[in-house]
Amino acid sequence: MRIIETKDYNDMSKKAANILSAQVIMKPDCVLGLATGSTPIGTYEKLVEWYEKGDLDFSQVTSVNLDEYKGLDRKNDQSYYYFMHEHLFNHVNIKEENTNVPDGTQPDGEKECARYEELIRSLGGVDLQLLGLGHNGHIGFNEPADAFDKTTHCVDLTESTIEANKRFFASADEVPRQAYTMGIGTIMQAKKILIIVSGEDKADIVRDAFFGSVTPRVPASILQMHSDVTLVADEAALSKIPR
Ligand code: F6R
Repeated sequence: MRIIETKDYNDMSKKAANILSAQVIMKPDCVLGLATGSTPIGTYEKLVEWYEKGDLDFSQVTSVNLDEYKGLDRKNDQSYYYFMHEHLFNHVNIKEENTNVPDGTQPDGEKECARYEELIRSLGGVDLQLLGLGHNGHIGFNEPADAFDKTTHCVDLTESTIEANKRFFASADEVPRQAYTMGIGTIMQAKKILIIVSGEDKADIVRDAFFGSVTPRVPASILQMHSDVTLVADEAALSKIPR
């Protein structure tokens, strides 16, 4: 694992956007795996800025998002479909038909997850997967469990994730209880992985995930087994790693 330490959130965002840009420049028709949450917002801002300057072209890029709440439709401003349009897709020249987010309105989870997994396979897999890190070590919505979930599946959100995400909703009661997410196996098949982390509140989980044992109790720890992972994190998030 490559670790890139940055001064702060802004610097993290710039370095992460640089890595994504390099991918798009080196392979204009690449498949980008994308994430939502608060961490990648600054990264997407940089990509939009560089696109506006004429430095980036998304016209041949395909995207696949990690996850989506079950039960939220695309117009819901808390859906990940909405988030991606608001923060990236509406501001760059990616083609709408080349953007993919699991369809949270599909009630048949098994069918939707199988469709999504097949879609990723038919695209030839993900070239570069962007990830954020949950406080409990989750990646996507792969929560701590007894075993690593392999493919795209429907999950019950844990209390800690509902608690963490309630800030985006009127109350905790409104946070959906389920989501569709790429599995750990899906994520691990990405050719390259870029995980971004910021803030002192993530320092413990950064240490446990990347310097502790590999266990499904800390889902991100599996990334230690991937051959091409870059962790871009600020000083605060790296403040507890062994030096
Ligand atoms: C988002 C996702 C989640 C977040 C994680 C960190 O698509 O899959 O795993 O990356 O919850 O969220 P933030 O960045 O809000 O701390």
